[in-house]
Amino acid sequence: MSENALDRVLVLEMVRVTEAAAVAASKLIGRGDEKAADHAAVEAMRAALNQLEFDGTVVIGEGERDEAPMLFIGEKVGSAQGTGPKIDIALDPLEGTTITAKAGPNALAVLAVAAEGHLLNAPDVYMDKLAVGPGYPDGVIDLSKSVTDNIKAIAAAKGVQPNEIIACVLDRPRHAELIAELRGLGCGIQLIPDGDVAGVIAVTNPDTNIDVYMGSGGAPEGVLAAAALRCVGGQFQGRLLFRNDAERARAAKWGVEDLDRIYSLEELASGDVIFAATGVTDGSLLDGVKRRGDVVTTESVVMRASTRTVRRVRGEHRRAPGGIGTL
Ligand code: FBP
Repeated sequence: MSENALDRVLVLEMVRVTEAAAVAASKLIGRGDEKAADHAAVEAMRAALNQLEFDGTVVIGEGERDEAPMLFIGEKVGSAQGTGPKIDIALDPLEGTTITAKAGPNALAVLAVAAEGHLLNAPDVYMDKLAVGPGYPDGVIDLSKSVTDNIKAIAAAKGVQPNEIIACVLDRPRHAELIAELRGLGCGIQLIPDGDVAGVIAVTNPDTNIDVYMGSGGAPEGVLAAAALRCVGGQFQGRLLFRNDAERARAAKWGVEDLDRIYSLEELASGDVIFAATGVTDGSLLDGVKRRGDVVTTESVVMRASTRTVRRVRGEHRRAPGGIGTL
């Protein structure tokens, strides 16, 4: 598939897809029902994808076929099966189900697309993640090194002391040692309750003051975050984490042979990638969905790796047949 086709057919269409998922999920903000919010987003995203003229395959989705009724890994989407451009899709219709249920910050509807074979088919296990924004020398981060070594390298490259570095980390008991090591260095830590796609992307936004993302979260979310960083710059490394034999078997099923492999940005998302997200709740990347009378507003970002173009799109949706304002 040519990059022009990816551009013409998809860049702005992707926003419609994430908008539809975000608007559908937004009705469930603060309602305490993660499953209902996720279900609404999944249904809306699937319907929007199926209106697009391509031959798409979900490579990162809601889970394997036997555990996810919709947008499962391997599901074909798009209205031009067998005839349209073949694209692979990584998606998370609602990244931050608990955040949405509790009306917390940074819930997103997220999507990345690339030509067939260009997104890592990551199993649904944890991934150790390490990310910095653009402007650092290549190789400044290295997952095979200690937390302390990485913080010192980042601080040296930034021309500051290690205690001036701010790290973003998911607030989880499994991160106790990581947090203790960062505290020992005097680093600032932004602990987030959920939503590490937004957490990783935050390193690219100077307004967040976050220098580095560290710690483990979902591997699928790692591929989505890597797709975003391919578009805006920055460095990312990920290593899949297997907690038991069932997860190791899952790895074999997805063709992962070296269980300790450290994946670079390009190994997670290569070639020309498009990343799109719409805010569900307000966050560091995007404003959330707002409902005022009959008007529903959305904020989205869509970006493309080959051109590094970043477009921000504010949508105003009104009730109309077939419009997403009716959702
Ligand atoms: P969901 O939207 O599926 O709830 O995921 C939210 C999330 O915080 C991700 O951003 C993150 O990668 C993952 O969960 C972390 O998993 P865990 O909650 O098991 O630590």
